[in-house]
Amino acid sequence: SASTVVVVGSINVDQLITIERHPLPGETLIGTSMEFLPGGKGANQAVAAAQLGATVRMVGLVGRDPQAEVATAILTRSGVDLSNVRAVDGPTGLALVTVAADGENTIVIIPGANALMGAEAVEAGATVIAEAAVVVLQGEIPAEGIMAALRLATGRVVLNLAPVIELDAASIRRADPLVVNEHEAALVLAQLAPNTVIPTEDAELVARLLDSGVPSVVLTRGAKGAICADRDGTHSVASPTVVAVDSSGAGDAFVGALSAQLAAGASLSESVRRAVRVGAFAVQSRGTQTSYPTLDDELPRVRA
Ligand code: RIB
Ligand code: NA
Repeated sequence: SASTVVVVGSINVDQLITIERHPLPGETLIGTSMEFLPGGKGANQAVAAAQLGATVRMVGLVGRDPQAEVATAILTRSGVDLSNVRAVDGPTGLALVTVAADGENTIVIIPGANALMGAEAVEAGATVIAEAAVVVLQGEIPAEGIMAALRLATGRVVLNLAPVIELDAASIRRADPLVVNEHEAALVLAQLAPNTVIPTEDAELVARLLDSGVPSVVLTRGAKGAICADRDGTHSVASPTVVAVDSSGAGDAFVGALSAQLAAGASLSESVRRAVRVGAFAVQSRGTQTSYPTLDDELPRVRA
C-alpha cells in the first residue's frame, strides 16, 4: 500500500516513577508513584502515527516474557500491524523513566531484545520495509540494523537520531528529514563535518546540516517549537503553550505525527506544524503512548 508508514525500532516497557524532584548523585528520595507502561521510541512513534490515521507496520523484537504483552498493548489497540514483531530469548527492553513535578524526565535504558535488531533481524521485515512510503528509524537499535533498513527502503526515510549513534555520512544523508534536538544536531554535525566548529545558534545548526548534504532537517526545540528546512526554504514553527505534566515521549509523538503527515502527502512544513501541536498535546499528561492524541482529540493551538 502506497501510503504505509513502517517503523523499524525499539519496543520497551517503561517503568515510570514520579517524584517531586530528581535525586542528586548519592541521594535517596521517596517517589510518589510507579507504573509499568508501554514505551520505546520506535513503538511510541508507531502508536502516534497510527492514532492519527496512518496505516502503520512495526518491525521490532520483544523478549519471550510477560513484559512483552505490556510493551505491545497499545500498539495492538491502535491497529499497528505487528506481524513483523518477533519474540526472542531474553528480556523485553526496559526503560527506567523518572519524571519530576516540573515535567522534566531522566531515562535509563536496558535494551534487552532491541539490542538484537541487527541486519538479520531487520532483513526479516524486508518486504514491508521495501513497500513503505515512509520508513521511520531512531537510535535505539544497533547501527547495523539502521543501515540494513536504509538498504531496503525505497520510500522516504525519517531518521530520528535519538539517541545519536555513529553512522556513516552516506547513511545520515539518506535522512529526509533528519529529526534531532539541538544537542543531537551538534553531535550529528560533528560526525558529518569532523573538523568543524559547531555553531550554537539553532538556525545555524540546521543550515550547516543542510550544507553537509542532509536533504532536509527538522530541529525540535521543546517548548520553543521546531525549525524545519529543505531546499525550498527554512521555517520556524512555534509551539502552543501548554502546562507540562510529563515531557517523556513528546518527541516521539512529534516524529510519529510528522511521519503520518508525510505519508499522507503533506509538505514538510505543513507536517511540522501539525507535529508540533501533537507533541504539545502529549506533554499535558503522564506517560508516552498513554498521552498521545487520536483524531477525536482537539490539539492545542498557537495563539497569535
Ligand atoms: O522517548 C521516550 C522513550 O525513550 C521512552 O518510552 C523509553 O522507553 C525510551 O525509549
Ligand atoms: Na506525556
